Amino acid sequence: MLGSPDLPSLPIPSKSVPTVKVYPSADEASLAVANQVAAEVKQLELVGKTAVLGLPTGATPEAVYRYWCQFHKERAFHWGKVITFNLDEYWPLPKSSKHSYHYFMEQRLFGPAGFDPRNTFIPDGMIAKAQIDEHCRSYEAAIERVGGIDIQLLGIGINGHLGFNEPGSSHQSATRLVDLAETTRERAQPSFGETEVPRYGITMGLSTILRSRHVYLLAFGAAKADAVHCALHGSIDIDCPGSFLQQHPNVHWVLDTAAAAQLELA
Ligand code: GLP
Repeated sequence: MLGSPDLPSLPIPSKSVPTVKVYPSADEASLAVANQVAAEVKQLELVGKTAVLGLPTGATPEAVYRYWCQFHKERAFHWGKVITFNLDEYWPLPKSSKHSYHYFMEQRLFGPAGFDPRNTFIPDGMIAKAQIDEHCRSYEAAIERVGGIDIQLLGIGINGHLGFNEPGSSHQSATRLVDLAETTRERAQPSFGETEVPRYGITMGLSTILRSRHVYLLAFGAAKADAVHCALHGSIDIDCPGSFLQQHPNVHWVLDTAAAAQLELA
């Protein structure tokens, strides 16, 4: 809807070879990711660096978040210093709404796992329209100020979207206000019940995502099989935003057998 504030000069590397791991179940895949990322957070701490995580919402990361809460309670894993930036938020929608991603993160992860609210960032779903561009620029600047995202977790939409970067999004797009695709709104409607799903969202751009040093893309269930196939094996194209991950040098695809059903894997 608004002019997309593209970031200037994102180099476009040639296709890289991603790691693809297929697990018998979403739960086993989630435990592996939860352990791996927790280990990377610890390793960064050992060299005196605070980990910066990019985090998604939706059904896909729920089990990972459940395991991280468990690590905190049972192994005293300390998340308090970790810095997080969420991918997206609906607009307009107050933080207090139980449909907001603020609410989701607080309930599913930040509260129970002991994250420090001063270190967790999510786009503001109630920012006034006139201030959206400035808010998005500040979000990008805040990511840059802490040295960029070390580890970005991602889900993928059935239409191949990343965050709320719907088909048609430029690989150079930055954090911005976007129109949500009808398929995205329809898929979200059951969890909104009687309330209408907002028409817009504020999302990190594809460029923001592609600048992360390390990406884990998680996809579970048969409904994701087409999107996973087009993102991994299709041509790199704005019709499938996930396909831009083929240009990222360090992506781990973490799938269950149903989501991997259309891949030709060795
Ligand atoms: C939503 C979110 C995305 C998420 C995707 C998949 O619209 N904005 O960040 O990755 O759709 O959601 P789910 O994991 O529930 O399938």
